[in-house]
Amino acid sequence: MQTRLKMLRKKLVKEEMDALLVNNPANRRYLSGFTGTAGSLLITQQEAILVTDFRYTEQAKVEAVDYEIIEFKDTNLEMLNQLIIEQQIEVLGFEAEYETYAQYLKYQDKFELELRATKGLVKELRKIKEQTEVTKIKEAVQITEEAFSEIQQSLQPGVIEREIAAELEFLLRKKGARGKSFDFIVASGKRSALPHGVAGEKEIEAGDLVTIDFGCLYQGYCSDMTRTVVVTDGPTEKQKEVYYTVLEAQQEALKGIQAGVKAADVDQIARDIITEAGYGDYFGHGLGHSVGLEIHEEPRLSLKDDTVLEPGMVLTVEPGIYLPDWGGVRIEDIVVVTEDGCQVLNKFSKELIVV
Ligand code: GLY
Ligand code: MN
Ligand code: MN
Repeated sequence: MQTRLKMLRKKLVKEEMDALLVNNPANRRYLSGFTGTAGSLLITQQEAILVTDFRYTEQAKVEAVDYEIIEFKDTNLEMLNQLIIEQQIEVLGFEAEYETYAQYLKYQDKFELELRATKGLVKELRKIKEQTEVTKIKEAVQITEEAFSEIQQSLQPGVIEREIAAELEFLLRKKGARGKSFDFIVASGKRSALPHGVAGEKEIEAGDLVTIDFGCLYQGYCSDMTRTVVVTDGPTEKQKEVYYTVLEAQQEALKGIQAGVKAADVDQIARDIITEAGYGDYFGHGLGHSVGLEIHEEPRLSLKDDTVLEPGMVLTVEPGIYLPDWGGVRIEDIVVVTEDGCQVLNKFSKELIVV
């Protein structure tokens, strides 16, 4: 945490702020190690303080070892104000992308100082993962793949999508995950044309393409994986054509990832392949996104993102083709950007599986 605090303090100097108030749970955890659901970090050049309540004081002492833990008795706001006065803070940064307008008004009313809206100060630091973070994501990916291996036998005609999602979550937890990293997508048959077709009440039928997009939380870090399978009958020529177009787009995009390349250019590689195959209008989302403490982080592999990739960024690569009233295919892996390429964390086969 000391390295992270040091980097943040440098940013505070540059931005001419005396302190930063951190309430975003992922940022709070990143900067302090504290995993509780309530607490504020107040970080100055000299001090790192975590204000929390009785429920979390003991936990905070164990987790946020680099912080002074203060338990508020009255209100969090009152305690923060007291600290602001003690620390003689005149310019205080707050997380504009996280705090509500109502909360901002409370700060304005209570604190006698200049409030400065900050955007992405901590998220910027989180873009490059440390080795310890990559290790946790790798573990999350491994648990996810083990669960996927086991779920295949349940993908049979007559089984309801929701049941698959429930079983997957059970398997992930049994294998050591804390929970799921997002609401699982289990989209079968024509529903697989819905890029975010959250598992519903549809029965899986013979011949269906089934897109399964899921992931877990392991020590705070997310995994995110998609495989599309065909159930019992098939695949048809069209299913194969669509599937292998998506796979080629993914594989070529993976080859295009390395430090120094623009995120948008990687998206373009996959998009060109899908467009040349005649499906350009049916790949309507970005190619991928960063993953870490949150499921969707910056930067994105998107035409709108000009970020130059750096070693240590962890990204999904997930092209798809979605044909209304027919079905769809998506394939998603997680990679770590390296100087001269990328390391794909997924090991699971990407050949079209008939379960
Ligand atoms: N589950 C949403 C995604 O893959 O980004
Ligand atoms: Mn996904
Ligand atoms: Mn994803």
